[in-house]
Amino acid sequence: MNSGPIDKSNLPSRHVTEGPERAPHRSFLYAMGLTDTEIHQPLVGVATCWNEAAPCNIALNRQAQSVKTGVKVAKGTPREFTTITVTDGIAMGHEGMRSSLVSRDAIADTVELTMRGHCYDALVGLAGCDKSLPGMMMAMIRLNVPSVFLYGGSILPGRFEGRDVTIQDVFEAVGQHQAGNMSTEDLMRLEAVACPSAGTCGGQFTANTMASVSEAIGLALFQSAGAPAPYESRDAFGVASGEAVMNLLRLNIRPRDIVTRKALENAARIVACTGGSTNAGLHLPAIAHEAGIDFDLEDVCDIFRDTPYFVDLKPGGKYVAKDLFEAGGIPIVMRELGRAGLLHEECMTVSGRTIGEEVDRVAGEADGKVIYAIENPISKTGGVVGLKGNLAPDGAIVKIAGMTEEETVFTGPANVFECEEDAFEAVQNRTYKEGQVLVIRNEGPAGGPGMREMLSTTAALSGQGMGKKVALITDGRFSGATRGFCVGHVGPEAAHCGPIALVKNGDMITLDAHKGVISIDVSDEEMAKRKAEWKGPRETIYGAGSLWKYAQLVGGANKGAVTHPGAKFEKHIYADL
Ligand code: FES
Repeated sequence: MNSGPIDKSNLPSRHVTEGPERAPHRSFLYAMGLTDTEIHQPLVGVATCWNEAAPCNIALNRQAQSVKTGVKVAKGTPREFTTITVTDGIAMGHEGMRSSLVSRDAIADTVELTMRGHCYDALVGLAGCDKSLPGMMMAMIRLNVPSVFLYGGSILPGRFEGRDVTIQDVFEAVGQHQAGNMSTEDLMRLEAVACPSAGTCGGQFTANTMASVSEAIGLALFQSAGAPAPYESRDAFGVASGEAVMNLLRLNIRPRDIVTRKALENAARIVACTGGSTNAGLHLPAIAHEAGIDFDLEDVCDIFRDTPYFVDLKPGGKYVAKDLFEAGGIPIVMRELGRAGLLHEECMTVSGRTIGEEVDRVAGEADGKVIYAIENPISKTGGVVGLKGNLAPDGAIVKIAGMTEEETVFTGPANVFECEEDAFEAVQNRTYKEGQVLVIRNEGPAGGPGMREMLSTTAALSGQGMGKKVALITDGRFSGATRGFCVGHVGPEAAHCGPIALVKNGDMITLDAHKGVISIDVSDEEMAKRKAEWKGPRETIYGAGSLWKYAQLVGGANKGAVTHPGAKFEKHIYADL
């Protein structure tokens, strides 16, 4: 690796550190203890989503210090800054959840603004909770400065009554408690031990799904996503990530050289074969949008359809992120994909090597327990599949990992709820019936606003033992921890008068994950009549503030629920200013 000084004459930071007219700018830098040499080196933004909201992000600050060490060793000058993150585990089940998806774009925007405002030349982004991962990756691609992503690492599993548990068990225990199957004392014992360390939620929920994506798409160093947050070995990945970003700067390898259509396909494969979160169907199109690549929900689902599901992770399976790491992690999974010809090995990564070269450097093989050999998968198609039909012309998504073939076809009468609270109340009071399709609408990106996740409702259903006896559809989202036949992202959303807005109690709905169908047994004429009589979107309580602003800007879920025109419409690239 070349480690000589870097010529700054074309880098953004020359605008703040070079020439007599920048003397005031340098004064600020001297005030923070920077030396002359440091000021004239490239400035590297080290962005974290650190906060004290949840264990998911609490270890990011520590790891940022290691990143800074790596940047310094490689003759760069790190400048640490923080952005926000919203923690779904605490936002879940109330109005706060509307802030979650909105935070993804706020993270991308605030990282962009900090980088632009201070003219940083490169970026290492550290993220923990769900939305902070895609948010950080979106900023990297948008700015297109050399960038490395570093995940903060997963939590260790808790132990309860002799078994490993995660936060999912606590959400589901609420349902068991409501159903009278768990005592208050046991619930309190469980809540106290389920989360024993720093780190993100332990199953292949959204954070770990997107962390797997960070390696597969090439934006993170191989294996860097796997080590749990408390492991000291994470700090070595921090140093290596700092060094790697300086190497990228020297080689001028940028995020859009890495995030190509093929890299997105590799990322979608990883989601499918690990039974990852349906939220990837939202975040991958949004990441693609930042690179000017059309890669929508349908494209993601096409990849899902022909990818075997062979990594046995919760919530559909048995194991947690720590187990996957100990089984060799995402690199071994990618090797299995490569053996079946399902990996674009020529894609570039932040190490400066291709995916194929990285896979070749990895020792070990599928253990047959956490990672199955790809010839003997858990199921032949991905753990997440797309649906389309007259109830969702723009598509919908469902996670079927862990479900049997019979469980993935469902027909039943609709039981319609105008918001999640109404559905949760019905579940609590057991006023729904076995065999029904629960329809929760007005929870889309614009109509919610904020496209909430329905984990409280789905976990309560699972806790009552009804997870497989009803189906649920919504224009909102589901948590990566959701189990059962739960179809999300139904589009167009109700606020835009999608067919979901026109469903009435008792309408027969069919969901078929094999055929990829979501349909309503109501004639086109009748649906047209209902549309003509539709009274417009439900009024929300958000007449001002960031949620109002979001509702005005946000696009359809199938395109990633993005809030700006994307790379196709940009007139400059920040890195070249
Ligand atoms: Fe932070 Fe799950 S709530 S990762």
